[in-house]
Amino acid sequence: MIVSAVNVLTLDGPSGVGKGTVGVSMAKKLSYNYLDSGALYRTLAVAAERWDVDLNDKKGLKKLANNLDISFQAESASTIKPFLDGEDITRELMLENTASKASVLALYSEVRTALTARQRLFAISPGLIADGRDMGTVVFPDAILKFFLTASVETRAKRRYKQLLLRGDNVSLPAIWRQLEERDKRDSERNISPLVPAEDAIELDTTYMSAGEVVDALMDVVMVRGIF
Ligand code: C5P
Repeated sequence: MIVSAVNVLTLDGPSGVGKGTVGVSMAKKLSYNYLDSGALYRTLAVAAERWDVDLNDKKGLKKLANNLDISFQAESASTIKPFLDGEDITRELMLENTASKASVLALYSEVRTALTARQRLFAISPGLIADGRDMGTVVFPDAILKFFLTASVETRAKRRYKQLLLRGDNVSLPAIWRQLEERDKRDSERNISPLVPAEDAIELDTTYMSAGEVVDALMDVVMVRGIF
């Protein structure tokens, strides 16, 4: 299926694996656009809370997803700020609680269809790095290069914990660890667009790698394939 007219590189994997850091860095190196698809699911969770739409109300969530007034603004080379109805929602979006709600509404096909259409709009010139769970399998099946990152749950929980601490949040490692495992289970076991590597994805275990090492490894593949 052809869904994109430009080069799309997909970066899928579980929570806390470092897709965001790696994706933004690669997009910068390649001067490509960057899509954080999880941010769309998280924004929908924030919007549902704002507009009092229940997480079981599939119809209400679908309507909300189709009318979501979301935009992203690059604040610096590595920071992209998300806005909902013109309001900066960076802090709310980062909360693990928001991510948990996002993984509940991500179970519904109505929501996924609405958000898939919006995600495809990001595939514009000169190219796109798309990060998520189903970028290579469902949203951009014709992507030119697909990566699937993994890391042990301990490493991922610690990475997420550090990230939240740096932001000044009052979080506990055991709580983050538990929420991460619950979310992984929901994302991997759902019927629609589960978290699985695409058949043609290149898998990389990043447990013992720094973000810089991961970027270098993936950029090597990009160069070897002659994509850039
Ligand atoms: O990537 P992030 O942690 O921000 O994603 C939050 C949640 O949104 C995930 O746990 C997952 O349930 C959902 N999601 C999804 N498909 C994507 C991206 C995120 O189902 N492509």
